[in-house]
Amino acid sequence: MTANWAGRAATVVLAGATSVALLAGPALAAGPVVGAPTAGDPYFPLQGNGGYDVGHYGLTLDYRPGSGQLTGMATIDATATQSLRRFDLDLRRTMTVSSVTVDGRRAAFAQPADLRQELVITPAAPLAKGAGFTVVVRYSGMPRPVTDPDGSIEGWVPTEDGAFVVNEPQGSPSWYPCNDTPRDKAGFDITMTVPDGVTAVANGVLVDTVTAGGRTTYRWSQPRPMSTYLAFVTTGVFRISTGTTPAGIPYLNAVDPSQAAKSRPVLAKLPAMFDFFQSLYGKYPWNSGGALVDNAPEVGYALETVTRPEFDRAPDELTLAHEIAHQWVGDDVTLARWRDIWINEGFAEWSSWYWSEHTGQATAQQIFQRLYATPAKDTGFWNPPPGNPGSAADLFAGSIYDRGAMTLQALRVEIGDDSAFLGLLHDWVQAHRYGNATVDDFVTFTEKRFPQLDLAHFFSVWLYQPGKPTGW
Ligand code: TRP
Ligand code: ZN
Repeated sequence: MTANWAGRAATVVLAGATSVALLAGPALAAGPVVGAPTAGDPYFPLQGNGGYDVGHYGLTLDYRPGSGQLTGMATIDATATQSLRRFDLDLRRTMTVSSVTVDGRRAAFAQPADLRQELVITPAAPLAKGAGFTVVVRYSGMPRPVTDPDGSIEGWVPTEDGAFVVNEPQGSPSWYPCNDTPRDKAGFDITMTVPDGVTAVANGVLVDTVTAGGRTTYRWSQPRPMSTYLAFVTTGVFRISTGTTPAGIPYLNAVDPSQAAKSRPVLAKLPAMFDFFQSLYGKYPWNSGGALVDNAPEVGYALETVTRPEFDRAPDELTLAHEIAHQWVGDDVTLARWRDIWINEGFAEWSSWYWSEHTGQATAQQIFQRLYATPAKDTGFWNPPPGNPGSAADLFAGSIYDRGAMTLQALRVEIGDDSAFLGLLHDWVQAHRYGNATVDDFVTFTEKRFPQLDLAHFFSVWLYQPGKPTGW
């Protein structure tokens, strides 16, 4: 499933193609084409592909923590959006592909050395535009973490007892073949076999477990459309607990025993957090909730994996609130391009401030004022402006979070009426369910709703002007 921003980009590409076809004659436009090797995001030029739309990933995996060996079979259901004679999936070359079929027929494939995450697939027969098709990829290898332009690691991160798996922004192809653009959302069924004593936890609900010959298979299912960077299957020794929030959201927590004591008082607040953000943003978008707390401190951050955010250690209260809020702002309404990261992080961070306010701790305005006292000369705090990080190296800069949340708190004050502001946030989420959005989409959405306010100036100061915002 591909959402609207991609549609707009595709229109531009098609307009170009039409003029070429006119010059070259209609014959050129007719035949099956080679799908683009990219979704066109300048921050990650090899990420995503063109020519098709994934509807569902079925991943059947086997992991041996001792040797680090991962063996996988990915069954990918997709629809061709162009007539295709060739197309790519994203998969790192650390994973070796042994076979590919398309609709049950053996397909030719290559993992070119100069394109480190492209799996190039040539089906036995071209795919018709609009046709559904199924790709099955068998692969194996020793997945390794990916290092990002900001120096952080992600993807498949081996731990003492398994592996901690977090994919934002480009870790997914370290362990499964996919169309790795945040705009191609799909359902996921993840099945993982591990040695007895190790638990595999993934997105969604646990369908069943089967134990045989010293190994256990865990089957997880999350059928709603989600972005590839939000999928996970983390393995290790975990204590599992389950429950249902007062508002009726089922949840499952998985906690590494080394983190259990420290996590307990924080996780006690988890049900109330899910219910609070549901009352703020609207119906919970997923089939389960919860949290996974591992012991993987070398990762250095948490991630809002769909249904069950992951923590590399026992979280503090506001980090837990931030990741749970992401289930709506980030996971349900997802950035359209990586430069739109404020759509995820500004909103999740502000949400954690609002949780603080809701529970009688510091109000969002008090947190704003404390941060706003940061001197203008502390340019590292204020830059880059949250509306445009400038490059992948600054994707998770502190300003995206702090100044990003301050932008929303300043907007709250500007609007002046809390029910109008909270209604804006609620309706923003509801208007983009299971979709994608740009920073500009939010600006336009807000300006339409409050035509009496001069928000063009407000947003240009807070989102785009370098340095400490003044005079908005
Ligand atoms: N999106 C995560 C959060 O805010 C943070 C995150 C993901 C991150 N990948 C990262 C932070 C890489 C720094 C570096 O919850
Ligand atoms: Zn976040």
